[in-house]
Amino acid sequence: MIDLLETEKRLLEPHVISGGIAVDFTMGNGHDTLWLARAVGPSGKVYAFDIQEQAFKNTRKLLDENGALGNVELILDSHANVAKYVKEPFCAGMFNLGWLPGGDKSVTTRLESTLEALRSGISLLADGGAVLLAVYPGHDEGRREGEAVTSYLSSLDRRKICCSRFEIVNSPTSPFFFLIEKK
Ligand SMILES: C[S@@+](CC[C@H](N)C(=O)[O-])C[C@H]1O[C@@H](n2cnc3c(N)ncnc32)[C@H](O)[C@@H]1O
Repeated sequence: MIDLLETEKRLLEPHVISGGIAVDFTMGNGHDTLWLARAVGPSGKVYAFDIQEQAFKNTRKLLDENGALGNVELILDSHANVAKYVKEPFCAGMFNLGWLPGGDKSVTTRLESTLEALRSGISLLADGGAVLLAVYPGHDEGRREGEAVTSYLSSLDRRKICCSRFEIVNSPTSPFFFLIEKK
């Protein structure tokens, strides 16, 4: 059976540049931040965002344990403010929407800030770069985010940006994801 988390990384990997800039828009427990930090390597840089102190602490611990703190900037702020912190084009970005695994389920990503972060992220994306965005439609806000992101991405000019959606069609509540590639 397809492993969506593995598949999404395989699709993002060709866009990652060694020594480049990457953004984790939802650091959570830090697994994606760590993956990005390893992918860009020690001469690259990762900016990682979360609004929860617990996510910040969990991520810092994971990075520290793996000797990967050196090239990561952890930011306790909403990803909607990405343009305040990231001033150069980035090659790879990840959104893993929803709540902190093992944390408070009432603190989840919200469609307004998700869309704002996605718009800003796309304008900061380097030519040839890509953003991966995973949606969890098994809860109400996740379903709304999925619909809003689909509608927004469908409106973008396909000559400039290619937006693909990957889903398990016979499992409508399973997570699905988008790959957004700048030409
Ligand atoms: C599913 S988790 C991310 C999992 C993470 N990528 C990992 O590898 O462990 C979603 C995270 O998004 C965070 N979040 C919610 N709203 C946010 C916002 N406006 N800006 C940044 N992060 C946000 C939550 O606090 C939660 O930690």
